[in-house]
Amino acid sequence: MDKSNILSKIEDLRKFLNQCNYDYYVLNDSKVSDYEFDTKLRELQDLETAYPEYDDPDSPTHRVGNDINQEFQQVAHKYPMLSLANTYNEGELRDFDSRIRKLIPGEKYSYVCELKFDGTSISLTYNNGRLVRALTRGDGKKGDDVTQNVRTIKSVPLKLNEGDYPEEFEIRGEILMPHSSFDKLNQERLEIGEPLLANCRNAAAGALKTQNSSVAAKRGLDCYLYYLLMDQLPTDSHFQNMQIARRWGFKVSENTAKANSIDEVFDFINYWDKERKNLPYDIDGIVIKIDSMSLRDRLGFTAKTPRWAIAYKFKAEEAAVKLLSIDYQVGRTGIITPVANLEPAHLAGTIVKRASLYNSDFIASLDLHEGDTVYVEKGGEIIPKVTRVELSKREPGAKPIHYITKCPICGTDLVRNAGEAGHYCPNYTTCPPQITGKILHFVTRKAMNINCGEATIELLYKDNLIHDVADLYTLTVEQMSRLERFAQKSAENFVQSVEKSKQVPFERVLYAVGIRYVGEGAARNLVKKFKTLDAMKNATLEELADAEDIGEIIANSVYQWLRNPVNIQLVDRLRSYGLKFEAEVNADEGPQSNKLEGLSLIVTGSFATPQRRTELEKMVEQNGGKLQSSVNSKTNFVVAGDKPGASKVKKAEELGIKIISEAEFLGMINE
Ligand code: IVH
Repeated sequence: MDKSNILSKIEDLRKFLNQCNYDYYVLNDSKVSDYEFDTKLRELQDLETAYPEYDDPDSPTHRVGNDINQEFQQVAHKYPMLSLANTYNEGELRDFDSRIRKLIPGEKYSYVCELKFDGTSISLTYNNGRLVRALTRGDGKKGDDVTQNVRTIKSVPLKLNEGDYPEEFEIRGEILMPHSSFDKLNQERLEIGEPLLANCRNAAAGALKTQNSSVAAKRGLDCYLYYLLMDQLPTDSHFQNMQIARRWGFKVSENTAKANSIDEVFDFINYWDKERKNLPYDIDGIVIKIDSMSLRDRLGFTAKTPRWAIAYKFKAEEAAVKLLSIDYQVGRTGIITPVANLEPAHLAGTIVKRASLYNSDFIASLDLHEGDTVYVEKGGEIIPKVTRVELSKREPGAKPIHYITKCPICGTDLVRNAGEAGHYCPNYTTCPPQITGKILHFVTRKAMNINCGEATIELLYKDNLIHDVADLYTLTVEQMSRLERFAQKSAENFVQSVEKSKQVPFERVLYAVGIRYVGEGAARNLVKKFKTLDAMKNATLEELADAEDIGEIIANSVYQWLRNPVNIQLVDRLRSYGLKFEAEVNADEGPQSNKLEGLSLIVTGSFATPQRRTELEKMVEQNGGKLQSSVNSKTNFVVAGDKPGASKVKKAEELGIKIISEAEFLGMINE
């Protein structure tokens, strides 16, 4: 290579690595495998060592990454937060051991082998046994103060057990998201029409950086501690110190072992390389540390990493496969998800045929071309991931993949909102997968719990029997039994289950109608505050955002949804079929207030059940109102159900008295 080629190679590597760092640390969204990142970093390091004239203080080899998010206060670390040198092969691990032997000649030493948790690192400060601060790594010198979010993690002790710890000390570890929390989170995202998260590490880092700590609290994060920092440690053994820290109240992994030789270290590595698939969280390697703290002091640090520890990283299993085609899936909220169809390949015990390509930026960053051979990787990741293209296998003249601009199903121009990664099809009224997707969501167990599956919905839609969720309430046993696969009995069951769904409480109906970002929890909180859909409709954006755990994004989505005539028509139809758009108020437990003080009301007509009228009458009194039995000049409101008394209505009209619905009445007392 001539010199100008070397310089341009160095520059390309720096640009690539800077982009990776930005994606990983700033956007919490890594697009390359760790292996590829580390290989490229090392390639750059080697070139910079061989050609020192091209070194640059701003090169990615000279920094430890940066995850500073300006929205959090930055605080300096008392002790710098360094990274670990890492390796993927046995030879280098043996070199590490030989280096140590040379640096401390004649000393007997042992290692501690620990799991390398695949999360995001954290430094906790305790003062008089109480958690006072939690900082992310940041740039290693200062980090983001995420104390409020960390306080919500149940495994982080806020107050320590009795113990012999100094007034102030730090302890470091890893915040991670267990698979169970990750699966639950992605299931929720699926239900509210949000793109899925690629892996537990990004999910943990994202959760830690949420502005709203109550949201962080619901992410089911966990925290393992592995590094104690204080002037006078309890003992000279790191292993012992961590056992002591466990007694103070910290979560310290049980899956740690002392090793007296490098061969014992390999036994540990080999065991966990196989066993890691059975852990409830992701690990991406093993950390090997010198046990003795005094030997650690003698070994010291290089500029970026300790000489007394190294990370052995498991190589994510990967396979090179041919890209056959790309499907663009349309979700129920119109969100487009590109999915690669791949030549089937064995990977980490399963056959991989498809992999998510996330969005158009991801496809562009891969520079994907038709018929490319791509690497798919399944490390800790649940969803196989395309990491890179094997350029040497690209066919000459292969065409680059251009992201679609129109909906693959209905042909509508796709839209991409500023700040959002995904495109979506705005045609929510007639785009078929959006319609069937919405109906499918509506019938699920957590929503209306109607007894039918995807195939039935497709069939009903194809046969022109349903176009929206309200149409489900028009279906008759006769119509259903005419469908192929439907016997009389199953038709009856179906209609019965539709009928039964009318009793589903309002909060589940609100979830069922499929407002973007409104999951079960958001629906529950909105109903708790507003009680009725009408009250929700009358609320301002600020009032909506004021409900528990409802941020601006959800509030805005609800606000817009309630202002769309198509949705309002749908609600009116559903209401006319008997679905609940008001929270049920049990008269005895109903709100006790003086909201109706000074007002006289009368309740007339029939309501959902005969008891309901009595309940409403009770509510008038419980809220300080005067209940009347006939309309007169003192009457302020007539609460009218179905078929209200004709003479009462006439009198009210004559006297100009307002006639209100049950919902409006509930709105008055629950405002
Ligand atoms: S010790 C001086 N032990 O791996 C460095 N780190 O690649 C002290 N990590 O930044 C770190 N598990 O976030 C240590 N058992 C473990 C670990 C661990 C995961 C992370 C940590 C560190 C990164 C280095």
